[in-house]
Amino acid sequence: MDLNYYENEKNVEHYSKFTPAHDGALLIDTLVEQLPEGSSVLEIGIGPGKDFKALKKHFAVTGSDFSKLFLKKYREQDSEADLLHLDARTLETDRQFDAIFSNKALIHLTADELRQSFTRQHDILNDGGLILHSFWNGEGEWEAGDLVLRYRNENQLRDMLNGKFEILALKPHAKMADNDSVYVLARKIG
Ligand SMILES: C[S@@+](CC[C@H](N)C(=O)[O-])C[C@H]1O[C@@H](n2cnc3c(N)ncnc32)[C@H](O)[C@@H]1O
Repeated sequence: MDLNYYENEKNVEHYSKFTPAHDGALLIDTLVEQLPEGSSVLEIGIGPGKDFKALKKHFAVTGSDFSKLFLKKYREQDSEADLLHLDARTLETDRQFDAIFSNKALIHLTADELRQSFTRQHDILNDGGLILHSFWNGEGEWEAGDLVLRYRNENQLRDMLNGKFEILALKPHAKMADNDSVYVLARKIG
């Protein structure tokens, strides 16, 4: 089961060394342009917390992850951080947010789980709230041992968000290579 992957000390160490190459600046700048300073933001799947730290410069951010190990490691470097143990599929919290952000965290969800997550995200957003999520761009999935990554493309995301969110931007971007990623920025309807 792929979600155990990030409960393993060796995998988490490996990912934490690899992630500095990842640059979430474009995504964070996009959110900063759309959302007033100081707004409440939930980040799903903070991992080692690189984007979480950057988001904190602009917003009142709550970090979350399904991996207790990533949360424990982040807590060791920031005792004040607002952290929640949340599964992206169920998002079991009573709290409401102005925006929900993730960078390559929802890539682990199946299509049905991602639809379920978008429905829950709609529930826990304030009126007019925003989502901004980045995925690996493409179709199908990539599997290595107990790690599974699911690619998403613009058509799939448009279809999944239809009726719940108004899409403000949906475009390819580069994480490690041109157009290897796709991000969506959307506003809650209703
Ligand atoms: C590829 S890492 C990305 C981490 C970080 N966002 C980054 O850009 O470096 C995927 C993250 O999603 C988390 N994750 C995987 N499945 C999850 C789930 N169902 N709910 C919440 N987080 C999950 C993992 O624990 C991990 O922190």
